[in-house]
This record gives sequence, structure tokens and C-alpha cells, in this order.
Amino acid sequence: MDRRKFMGYALAGAGIGLGGVALWNPLKLGRSFSARPEISPDFEPDVDIDLRARPAEIQIFPGRPTRVQRYFAKVLQGSPEAVQEIEGSYLGPIFRFKKGQKVRIRFTSEIRQVTIVHWHGLHVPSEMDGHPRYVIERGETYVYEFEVKDRAGMYWFHPHPHKITGPQVYSGLAGLLFISDDEEERLDLPAGEYDLPIVIQDRTFDDENQLVYLSNSMERMIGFLGERILVNGRPEAEISVATRIYRFRILNGSNSRIYKLAWDDGTPLTVIGTDGGLLDRPVQRPYVVLGPAERVDLWVDFCKRPIGSVLTLKSLPFSGAASSGMMGGGMMGMMGRRRGRRRNVPENGAELVLLRVKVERKEPENRTLPESLSNMPQLDLAEAVNRDRPRTFRFSMQHMQPVINGRTFQMTKVASDEIVRLNTTEVWELINENSGMGMMGGMMQIPHPVHIHGLQFRILERSASAGWESIRDGFVDSGWKDSLLLMPGMRVKILLRFQDYTGLFLYHCHNLEHEDLGMMRNYLVKE
Ligand code: C2O
Ligand code: CU
Ligand code: CU
Repeated sequence: MDRRKFMGYALAGAGIGLGGVALWNPLKLGRSFSARPEISPDFEPDVDIDLRARPAEIQIFPGRPTRVQRYFAKVLQGSPEAVQEIEGSYLGPIFRFKKGQKVRIRFTSEIRQVTIVHWHGLHVPSEMDGHPRYVIERGETYVYEFEVKDRAGMYWFHPHPHKITGPQVYSGLAGLLFISDDEEERLDLPAGEYDLPIVIQDRTFDDENQLVYLSNSMERMIGFLGERILVNGRPEAEISVATRIYRFRILNGSNSRIYKLAWDDGTPLTVIGTDGGLLDRPVQRPYVVLGPAERVDLWVDFCKRPIGSVLTLKSLPFSGAASSGMMGGGMMGMMGRRRGRRRNVPENGAELVLLRVKVERKEPENRTLPESLSNMPQLDLAEAVNRDRPRTFRFSMQHMQPVINGRTFQMTKVASDEIVRLNTTEVWELINENSGMGMMGGMMQIPHPVHIHGLQFRILERSASAGWESIRDGFVDSGWKDSLLLMPGMRVKILLRFQDYTGLFLYHCHNLEHEDLGMMRNYLVKE
């Protein structure tokens, strides 16, 4: 057994210490690319930011503060509004940029493990995307310089070192990034205190209020599931609102948990945007299903609610998240018993309370829901170079190992079927194959929230053989996306265009434990 493999098992078996305790630093040995510490003199930033990742303590519960790792930022030059801290949260600052702005971010690591920052959803050059080959050590700085080319919307940033993204995000390293543009501003959507970022995560704490990550390799294979729900870093989250229209911008920032978002009184959800910005027109859903890394932009109307009323945003129960004959009867049963002694972790698909909203103030409102939201740019299927022969990507479990087309991550390699041409449009078919042999000869049926770096794509068609009745009305596929939830047995065809930038970009499962286990690959955009 080689060292890499051996240590991989050790890491999986022993769990990973937080608060800066690395059992093994897989990248110290193999870092073959030097960081990019220089600032380019000919790049003239509109905003220049200092960003740091460092250990911190946050009061989440009464008693001992919780040790976390978090991002801190300050504006060195440009509008001070570009950085907004979230009070009392481990979540990183919120960045606010405008489309067309030139941004420089000088990222310095003050944490023990190697790390690098990825701008999830942004269309930036390969060297600016936070690829794991660019990880830096404590004390080093990586300078990002890019122009914001994306549509108005809510994006986010988080670490992306190979094999340790899960524990780093879990320890608190994540932040939101809002982009605005002229088209969005003309709409006059709810703003300021009526535009609410809502980051949903699940976490487990020990008796000393400290974060607990994975405790065994089976948990790792399914993905981390936490005991309790945190919204913007707070447990039992409650907000008070006025009788106004709000914009709820929700990110599923969890490592592997899926949410089926709904109001407890059955009020439908009005969706105005997805990962890559506003839809062309609003859509209504009885509930919205959000896999890890996905975002949804909701228009929420409290105007007719009586003062004193309370609404609860829940995750409704659903099935299909982790089931098979073997897992149901064997593995999950074992985990249940083990957990039954110590912890009470809700399964993926269990009903959960996410957020309580109290209507507390009467205020006038004059907004109405716009019929048309944006001139959403379109992609033409007729232009796809492979319109009848989609490139296929099969996400499956092979002997406890999550793989894409049978492969795992190789730092700088691509296979011949992972090379695309600049300035072309392609159809890709993403398939969650549930036929692989899993644990003890059983079938593994596990969702894979698939994410593609460097671009936003469109969804052409989504199908599943069976077993998705409890979630099928919860997908919003009409907008631009960078992440999508691929349930067991599901096939989704997407349309993507490769433009502006050549080089290596990642695509991977955003179940962060799967990603860390190697369910990640490069694709190469070639001139
Ligand atoms: Cu949100 Cu490759 O990441
Ligand atoms: Cu990403
Ligand atoms: Cu996966």
C-alpha cells in the first residue's frame, strides 16, 4: 500500500481534528506549482482587498466559545461597502461587487493546513479560480486579480485544497459574494435590510461547544451530516420582519445535507433567481430542493401577515437521499445504533426546522412582483458541437470509492474526453449511476450535487427512473446554474459554453466528503 492510500484510510478512520489540527497534510509533499505572490503593476483595481483565513473563537452557545476558522477582510482601496462583516458569525465577510469592476484580493493564510480560496460560480481565469494546485502555506499570500464578468446574483467563496476542503469549510471558512448590475438595479428589488442572506449549514457540537466532524469512514462515504441546523452561523435562528416584501437569498452551505425548503403553512415559494442570477420571469414552487452549494433567490411577501404571526421555514421530509437494500438494513442500521448511544443526527431527508420568522412591524409597501425580471442571455442548443452525442459523466460509487467515469482526481491531469475547445458550446449528460457495488455487496444510492467551475450552464432536461416523487416539484431548472442536484438514478442534460479563458477548471461532486475522497476531475479548455 502506498503512503497516499494508507494515509487516506487513516484520515478517514480517525476523523479530522479541527481548530488547526491536521493529521496529515497531503499537499505538503506534492506541491509542484509555486504560488503567485506578485501583484501585477499594470492591473488597476477598482477595489483592493486584504483577505485572511485564521483561527478564531465565536460565542455560539452559552458557556465556552467555539473554536472555528474564519475569513477576515478589509478594504485597502476602493469603496468600503465592498466588505461587510456578519456580526457574531463564523461566516466570512460578505463581498459586494459590481459587474465590470476590477477586483484585487490579497489572500493570506494564517491557518495550519494548506489552503486556497475558490470563488464559487464566478467566471474567472484558471489561475484565479482557486484550483488546489495553487494551495499556499501559512504565512504565504496568493494575489487574485480579475474583472467581475458575472450577472447580478449571490455567489460564494470557500477553501479548495485537495482532500481537506470538507473539514476547512466545516470549521467555518466560507463567505458570500454579491454581484449587482444595472439590469438588476433598474428592477428596484427589495434592498438593504429587506434583502437577506440566509446560509444554511448543519453542525455537530460536543459538550464543550466544540465542532465535531466525521467520526468514521462510513459517515465519510455518505457525507457529513450534522446534528443541528445553523443559519448564518446561529442555532435556532429567528428573524423579525416588517409587513413588507423581502428578498431571501438562500445558500445551502452544508457539506452534504440537502434541504427541501417550504413554509410550514403551505404558502408556495416565489423564485426569482438561481445560482447564476435572476430568472427571466418568476416561478412558483410548493417547495424548493437545494443541494449543497446551490442558491435560490426568493421573493417573500409578508404584507398581509398579521403582526405577531410566526412563520417557519422548514425542510420537509423526502426520500432517496441515502437508501438501498444494504444501506437501509445494514449500514444505516449500524450507524443508527452507534449514533443512538451518543448522538441524534437527522438523516438526509428528515424533517427539520430551519428558520422562524416573526412579523413584528407594520410598514407600507408599494412593490409588486415584476412579471419580467431579466433579459436572461440564452444559449442555443443548435450551436452545440455535439448536440446529438452528449459528453457523458457518470457519478457512481465503486467499492466505497466515489468516482466520475470510473476515475478520481489527478492534480493536473485530464483524460482525452475531458478536453473542450474555447468558443464552443457543448451538451453534457450527468448521470447518477446507482448500479455500482457498494458496501458489503449492496447497492449504493447516494445523491451527488454536481458542480462545474469557471462558468454558468443551462439545464436542458432532467429525468429519473423512479423514486423521486417526493422532490420532483422542487427543482428550478429555468435559470443559470453552476451546481445541480443529481439524485440516485437521475440523468440531467446541460448546455455549456467555454469562452474567454483557457486552462484547467474543475468539475466535481459538491458533497464535500465525496470531493475530498477524489470525486473531482479537471477539464481543459483548449485554444
Ligand atoms: Cu464550491 Cu469546486 O466548489
Ligand atoms: Cu466552484
Ligand atoms: Cu457525490
